[in-house]
Amino acid sequence: MPVIQHLHARQILDSRGNPTIEVDCVLDDGSFGRAAVPSGASTGSHEALELRDGNKVLYGGKSVLRAIQHVDGVIMKELVGKGVDDQRAVDQKLLALDGTSNKATLGANAILGVSMAVCRARAVSERKPLWRSLADQFGVEHPRQIPVPLMNVLNGGRHADSGLSFQECMIVPTGFDHFSDALRAGVETYHALRRILQKAGQVTAVGDEGGFAPRVSDAPHAFDFLLQAIADAGYRDRIRLAIDAAASEFYKDGSYTVDGRVIDRHALSDYYVDLTKRFPLVSIEDSHSEDDWEGFAELNKRTGSAVQCVGDDLYVTNVERIKKGLDLRSTDAVLIKLNQIGTVSETVDAVRLAQDSDWRAVISHRSGETEDTFIAHLAVALRAGQIKTGAPCRGERICKYNELLRIEEELGKEAVYMSPF
Ligand code: PGA
Ligand code: ZN
Repeated sequence: MPVIQHLHARQILDSRGNPTIEVDCVLDDGSFGRAAVPSGASTGSHEALELRDGNKVLYGGKSVLRAIQHVDGVIMKELVGKGVDDQRAVDQKLLALDGTSNKATLGANAILGVSMAVCRARAVSERKPLWRSLADQFGVEHPRQIPVPLMNVLNGGRHADSGLSFQECMIVPTGFDHFSDALRAGVETYHALRRILQKAGQVTAVGDEGGFAPRVSDAPHAFDFLLQAIADAGYRDRIRLAIDAAASEFYKDGSYTVDGRVIDRHALSDYYVDLTKRFPLVSIEDSHSEDDWEGFAELNKRTGSAVQCVGDDLYVTNVERIKKGLDLRSTDAVLIKLNQIGTVSETVDAVRLAQDSDWRAVISHRSGETEDTFIAHLAVALRAGQIKTGAPCRGERICKYNELLRIEEELGKEAVYMSPF
């Protein structure tokens, strides 16, 4: 088995024009792997630490030169000469070197860049596509399911200045037999939405994840636009709706300020339940604030299996927090973001725990992304069944969809597209 010969990190830019870290990994058999780390805006306070220099001169303090030094220095020193046949062993070395619970010494961005780049280099060495190499590495059999995309076509909250409290309104193409058809239907609906918004005199500039950000008064107003677009595109009953409320962003001192009203956790649950009755809403992410376990559990109980309740800031891809959620029945699904936890194998553990507990796992991008397509491969490798990677617009979102099209083609007749809704 080949060993790591060289690591190199560099500062590149993410989709918001902020610096992020990219890592190159070279093995002694000549195999080369490269990976880039994304960055969130509505970050959960329990996420692993993203190391930024805080030196106001460079990029307003957002440069990541210290994280880069860690890769080129202590991390390379530790990993050079070490085998890559076992990703868990590589990640364990990184965790031991860091020595903190939230990766504060080296930075989760430095650690994750290395962890992902090693996976890429190993796949090259094995002469396998990344999705198959990851599946084999983590013992997943029959990785042939292409995930259902949750496409964020209307942006609000922290991702846009639209007046909408919820951060994301998504369309979910459920009634299709192939990923490529589902994606096409999503794209056609997105284009129909643009026409509708133009007619309504709304701006059609896009937010951080490629969705439109029209001025809307509340969620029903946004959903009406979406349903009209779905109908115009000819996909009534075949495309459903999902939201990421990102409720931590509109929570303060025990109250939620949502769509112009200040309400408590129970009234907020009432609001969601009412929306599920009026609209084909199949998934609600971060319905409540990141430590409001009770609010989550109440909604999850009330919606039952009819609506998927997803925890993002609530769990931050952290196995310990997911275990607590399992105990409290806070949700029935978990959002998975590699950089919330900081290594590939810990991310896999989070997905496993969810799947073994009959929860669903949704593999997700961040609002600050790069052209890296790792999550497309990860979703297929782990048979996650769902992916969240924005609107079909902006290169850093499109590249994930395009990679899934390639994987679907590679799988040929074996490829499966199956909606959980
Ligand atoms: P973020 O948003 O990357 O800004 O955290 C994505 C999400 O909340 O799902
Ligand atoms: Zn979220």
